[in-house]
Amino acid sequence: MKHFINLKDIPAKDLRKIIIDAKKRKKSRQKLNTLEVDKGSPLKGKMLVQMFEKASSRTRISFYLAIKQLGGGTLTLRSNELHLGQGGESIADTAKILSTYGDGFMFRTDSDKKINDFKKYSTIPIINGLSPSSHPTQVLSDVFTVEEIKKRPISKLKICWIGDSNNVLESLISASVKFSFKLSIGCPKKFEPKKNIKNWVKKNNKKIYIYNDPKKAVLGADVVFSDKVISLNDKVNKKKKIDQFKKFIINNKLMKHAKKNCIFLHCLPRGKEVDNEVFLGNNSHVWQQALNRVHVQKSILLYCFGKLR
Ligand code: CP
Ligand code: NVA
Repeated sequence: MKHFINLKDIPAKDLRKIIIDAKKRKKSRQKLNTLEVDKGSPLKGKMLVQMFEKASSRTRISFYLAIKQLGGGTLTLRSNELHLGQGGESIADTAKILSTYGDGFMFRTDSDKKINDFKKYSTIPIINGLSPSSHPTQVLSDVFTVEEIKKRPISKLKICWIGDSNNVLESLISASVKFSFKLSIGCPKKFEPKKNIKNWVKKNNKKIYIYNDPKKAVLGADVVFSDKVISLNDKVNKKKKIDQFKKFIINNKLMKHAKKNCIFLHCLPRGKEVDNEVFLGNNSHVWQQALNRVHVQKSILLYCFGKLR
């Protein structure tokens, strides 16, 4: 049984296999309607339980479509409607119950420890649908999108992140090690990536490039990524933090420092970190990026269910 919790813990060759499968599957269902099932119905009869402790639009809908297109179904739960969320049941008991009824569990949570506890007691695969330290399904799908648009392996491209050092960036850093791409990060000094992730990069004999000047980070980039400065449930002085990121707002003037055909990606939801001229501009591919989550998550599900071709 394979979990999909953090890109750091998944072998690079498995991540590549997932991307290759997603590419084939996306191509082969071009003429199918949204809810039509892939040939062979590989997850026929399987149920993915999804549970959200935080809001979600894309992750929720894309996982619903992903398992449907593989022949299975989903049950979506809000933790506050369960005994677990009301504090009346332990994770161990809930994990065993979910393993009894379901075949896989996708969890969006405020606590990395909770995911690990679920992993300990569950007998079905666990997928991390966003946690404080990681958003692995988003970032693997983003690697797919970059390669789809650029038509080159990501290892040959210069990737740039402008924004907060949050869960999405941590997964992007993990991806930079797994897929060997150059990653430059532009953020205020106070918001640089945490020591533990920097140490992990070093331990893997890789490097990330951190700049406190957004122009330097963007210089020569093929792809610029961003995300909200204030993440879900971020318990900070929001106004102050947004102010500290003022210099890092992505607009056409900043994008001029990147390569001419540089693309812009953003996982959504968005705040004020990017101007409409970039977000809605010709080089932005954010809608394609969101759609690709369906395709890549299908291959992630197959990986977890031991059915990857
Ligand atoms: N990008 C992303 O995970 O979006 P949701 O929060 O809507 O799921
Ligand atoms: N960093 C954001 C990502 C949302 C998809 C958050 O955690 O809220």
